[in-house]
Amino acid sequence: MKRWLLSYDDKLPVSNIDPCLFYIFIPSVLIIFVYFHVDNFLVITSSEEWQQQFFADFNQTYPCVDEGTLTEILGIRMVFRDTGLLRECRMHQEGFIHRMLDRYGMAECNPSPTPMEPKLVLTPADPQEPTSGRPYANLAMELMWLARCTRPDIMTAVCYLARFMHCHTEVHWQHLLRVLRYLKGTVGSLVRLNGSTVMYSSRLQKTVALSTADAELVALSETAQDIEHLIHLISEFAPVQLPVVLHGNNHASVLQAEGALNNTATRHITVRDRYVAKLVELGRVIIAKVPSAQNLANFFTKSLAANRFHLLRSIVLRYFQGTVG
Ligand SMILES: *[C@@H]1O[C@H](CO)[C@@H](O)[C@H](O)[C@H]1NC(C)=O
Ligand SMILES: *[C@@H]1O[C@H](CO)[C@@H](O)[C@H](O)[C@H]1NC(C)=O
Ligand SMILES: *[C@@H]1O[C@H](CO)[C@@H](O)[C@H](O)[C@H]1NC(C)=O
Repeated sequence: MKRWLLSYDDKLPVSNIDPCLFYIFIPSVLIIFVYFHVDNFLVITSSEEWQQQFFADFNQTYPCVDEGTLTEILGIRMVFRDTGLLRECRMHQEGFIHRMLDRYGMAECNPSPTPMEPKLVLTPADPQEPTSGRPYANLAMELMWLARCTRPDIMTAVCYLARFMHCHTEVHWQHLLRVLRYLKGTVGSLVRLNGSTVMYSSRLQKTVALSTADAELVALSETAQDIEHLIHLISEFAPVQLPVVLHGNNHASVLQAEGALNNTATRHITVRDRYVAKLVELGRVIIAKVPSAQNLANFFTKSLAANRFHLLRSIVLRYFQGTVG
């Protein structure tokens, strides 16, 4: 099929960044073709005419069925709505959440205001003790899937609790159930494709850092790598406005990222961890310092008290909606 696509009309090139992505530009019309499974594919186009011709041609070699407008992909429900200028795309997994609540006997539970207790610190279970016998890993993986797709608001809690996959007790399990109780009390996130945040991340650092500034420099560099990837991918379709603004809240790390600090105290930082400095030098990224209290990244990295959590959540969701208000 790949060969067929590549030769179609002599002009359906594959993306340099993602081998499952094909796209074509016809003046002022963008057509994107993605296949992600041997027998499943998705066509995004602003030209109905092109689409019909393409389906007809494709159908001759690969008999297929047009299932109409996308309503669900990989378990994520898509709801399209025209709002004048923009076509809004709302993605949610409410059905998935309901089924999960049922399966874990939580359909009638009391909702929780946040996914995680503020400043929660759990210790791994003693390896000699039997584990709780609960389907901890299953629930953690399902929640992780949800967090990655449409619920960034549970990412911090789930990443933290997932560390106890192999060493959990009833206490850990109850904390995992709290995430479900939180989901019960909330509605799904709204995600807009055009002009919105399309990626977020929250993860344990890969390198052990010696100071807070170093830790943040490493984090900025890891994020910068993700940003580079996105810049490359998006540039294939549309010009990306450079530089991209990256927010940090540690003054020393911001200076370091900008290359202003270059003394012996920071020599232990490897070239890879200075990646962000490289991008700053190339003018692809600029670093902006944000006060800790306003740093949206805290939403993804810290367990917050309910009022801070709700404030940052409303700001983050507004980012995801792509508009303010
Ligand atoms: C492909 O051809 C078959 C048989 O004519 C038809 O039933 C089907 O709807 C066609 N699929 C598309 C996507 O046009
Ligand atoms: C996003 O929407 C605006 C219209 O509000 C449009 O001008 C712009 O080209 C769109 N961007 C992309 C990448 O489609
Ligand atoms: C930092 O030090 C390295 C090695 O000594 C040098 O090559 C580089 O130019 C310095 N950078 C700045 C911004 O001073």
